[in-house]
Amino acid sequence: MASIYYDDDANLDQLQDLNIGVIGYGNQGRAQALNLRDSGLTVWVGTKEGKGRTHALADGFPAHTPEEVAANCEVLALLLPDEVLPYVYSVSVEPYLEAHDTFVFAHGFTVRHKTLRLPDDADVVLVAPTGPGRQLRSLFEECKGLPALVAVEQDASGVAWQRCLAYAKAVGCTRAGVIETTFEEETVTDLFCEQAVLCGGMPELIKASFDILVDKGYQPELAYISCLKEVKLICDLLFERGIHGMRSAISNTAKFGSALAGPEIIDASTRYRLAKVLQAIESGKFARQFIEEAAQGSPAVHELLLTERHSHLARTGAKLSQNIRF
Ligand SMILES: NC(=O)c1ccc[n+]([C@@H]2O[C@H](COP(=O)([O-])OP(=O)(O)OC[C@H]3O[C@@H](n4cnc5c(N)ncnc54)[C@H](OP(=O)(O)O)[C@@H]3O)[C@@H](O)[C@H]2O)c1
Repeated sequence: MASIYYDDDANLDQLQDLNIGVIGYGNQGRAQALNLRDSGLTVWVGTKEGKGRTHALADGFPAHTPEEVAANCEVLALLLPDEVLPYVYSVSVEPYLEAHDTFVFAHGFTVRHKTLRLPDDADVVLVAPTGPGRQLRSLFEECKGLPALVAVEQDASGVAWQRCLAYAKAVGCTRAGVIETTFEEETVTDLFCEQAVLCGGMPELIKASFDILVDKGYQPELAYISCLKEVKLICDLLFERGIHGMRSAISNTAKFGSALAGPEIIDASTRYRLAKVLQAIESGKFARQFIEEAAQGSPAVHELLLTERHSHLARTGAKLSQNIRF
């Protein structure tokens, strides 16, 4: 069984006398800064001019640059997009650092792939919430928490682990439970699951199934509802009850159909390709491709988004949502 830690294992005193700097005020930055402040900690928010700065000001955080935050805070949560982080770090953070800083990451990518050079005399910890900032914040406000993955890569202060757990407590995650891992394991499993299942595999299965039905002359509206909208019902069952519980809750026809079709679709060749996806992540090939893509202005991503925005599936969804109250 993995090692799991809760509120009682963490002590906010570890962070009480420190200035906590949150650099980036987007998805994770906003939620984490607000939760940290509501936990009674001293929080500085560092942003460039833009949407993040506007939101931070509206939430009552004074306008600070990343440079000011790096110079004044002992704990720095670097909550920027993974491809942007190395640049902001080298220009706006690294030159202003004091000794014995603690760096907090919400994902292991930049540390695992060494896209930035952190000082040897710093703590490097991971508090990776298992969901978006919106959920991290709303659960916190309900006195609940979102589970997180936690790890220590470097312990220069001797109390990096305690600081890591204290940070996880301050953003609300130890209320639910945090699982100990490594930067390596968090990075690989997170990237693999988003590519294989959540954002890669599942949407492609939806698109392909929609196209097959529509090409055969079935109404696109029906194809959209059954291939896309109903995914939520099954996801809710999976989330609450696991695969066995989901199967117990569906009709006998669906049970038999899934027993026949599932292994035919996800067969040995699919498993072979899944293993290749994992291999590309483990070897660093995916990270190199991602960094190169970002340096060129993300052309592959733009093309995918453009194609999907104008697809038959998207047009069907837009029309349906004007006419049916889901
Ligand atoms: N999103 C999630 O659900 C999630 C979940 C767990 C972990 N994480 C991890 O959390 C970290 C942060 O991701 P995120 O999703 O919160 O990112 P995000 O929402 O894309 O955050 C964007 C923030 O970065 C700022 N920014 C962008 N380019 C910048 C630049 N060149 N200089 C200074 N600031 C810049 C943006 O400012 P403007 O708004 O002004 O453009 C905004 O404040 C990542 O490591 C990610 O892997 C994310």
